[in-house]
Amino acid sequence: MAVTAVVGCQWGDEGKGKIVDLLSEPADLVARFQGGPNAGHTVVHEGEETILHQIPSGILHPHTVCLLGNGTVIDPRILFDEIRELEEKGVEVRGRLFISHKAHLIMPYHRAIDEAAEQAAGTRRIGTTGRGIGPAYTDKYQRCGVRIVDLLDRDHLETKLRANLRDKNRLLKNYYNSTALDVNRIIDEYIAFDEKADPFIKDVSVLLNDAIDEGESVLLEGAQGTLLDIDHGTYPFVTSSNPTAGAAATGLGIGPRRIDHVIGVMKAYTTRVGNGPFPTELAEPMQSRFRDWGEEYGATTGRARRCGWLDLVIARYAARVNGLDSWALTKLDVLSELDEINVCTGYIHRGKRIVHFPAEPWVLDEVEPEYETLRGWKQDIRGVRRYADLPGECRRYLDFIRKHTGIDIELISVGAEREAYVPLGSGELAPVS
Ligand code: IMP
Repeated sequence: MAVTAVVGCQWGDEGKGKIVDLLSEPADLVARFQGGPNAGHTVVHEGEETILHQIPSGILHPHTVCLLGNGTVIDPRILFDEIRELEEKGVEVRGRLFISHKAHLIMPYHRAIDEAAEQAAGTRRIGTTGRGIGPAYTDKYQRCGVRIVDLLDRDHLETKLRANLRDKNRLLKNYYNSTALDVNRIIDEYIAFDEKADPFIKDVSVLLNDAIDEGESVLLEGAQGTLLDIDHGTYPFVTSSNPTAGAAATGLGIGPRRIDHVIGVMKAYTTRVGNGPFPTELAEPMQSRFRDWGEEYGATTGRARRCGWLDLVIARYAARVNGLDSWALTKLDVLSELDEINVCTGYIHRGKRIVHFPAEPWVLDEVEPEYETLRGWKQDIRGVRRYADLPGECRRYLDFIRKHTGIDIELISVGAEREAYVPLGSGELAPVS
């Protein structure tokens, strides 16, 4: 396995939790490199569902060490709730979870500003998860963020928090007409967090590089997805970090050449939560039918996800910006109800064919997807475990994706359970031509 990065290739919610859980079985370490508790990675094992927001999905395998890199943002309240919930389920977390001393903290004022800014934006709101992600990364780049190292010196922390809160309270009160936050309460809360956090804090870059030098197998777990990437996504309707593969290096303090393999996770159709363009979005009543079949509700916010056909313009784009080696295709079983399945292979804009995924939001709003229609398989595939046992139409669907993206499919997921997947070993499929 060596060092493998797993990234989302649509608008998040591709089913990365399940794929990372599967791939972390043989992994020694699983590391997250960006994002924060805006993620919601769902893993189902022996009928029991675990939703992880901040801790890598690998934590459910007892032998795996889990890391949160310098590129992530940490909400202490959510982190310790998650640790407690895992411990209540009998999962050993202490001694297996380490957080970079350079990671930034999400502060109560980040959540307050996230909510206030969304409310003030009216119809232009992004539809964030409300977890304070954008404001926390804003402070990081504004160079006034609070890092975990800041907790090490109480006086330093207090001076920094007082200065930050003076500015943030002004913003909240005078600009957003919202309530100011209590400085002393926040200082006490974060100092208490320091005491609890101590055993979890490490120089993650040193730990990870040493592990790679020793030949340990490492999985780098992306959160969100390529189209939510601050640089490559559908800006401004994006998250505030880089969920694409390149960020795995900077977000963990490893060199880019240390990454051996990149797997792109893609749903067999498309979903998105929050606002922003979505060329293959379905009209009603199909939209609601998809949502019911796929149980498409956000793992973090419970919001109904928007649903649409698979978009291979996006898939090709994700393959390029992530440098993908293979696909993990998820939720293929959800399509089993359909007589016919549409797949978008290109966009037409004002009569012209667009080859590459466009950056202009107004173009994306206007593009018309070109569809090819494939026959459905109309069979329950949730019990299938071998490629050869998949219905012919289903194999043709997989072939179509491989042909149009030039990327092989490494595994497909056919249900929520850990064991509901089909590995596509080399030799089972003809080479991509
Ligand atoms: P934020 O990351 O909370 O700032 O939200 C920005 C955008 O990213 C919104 O459209 C969210 O719905 C979306 N988003 C953030 N995290 C996830 C995720 O884990 N899955 C799907 N969408 C997400």
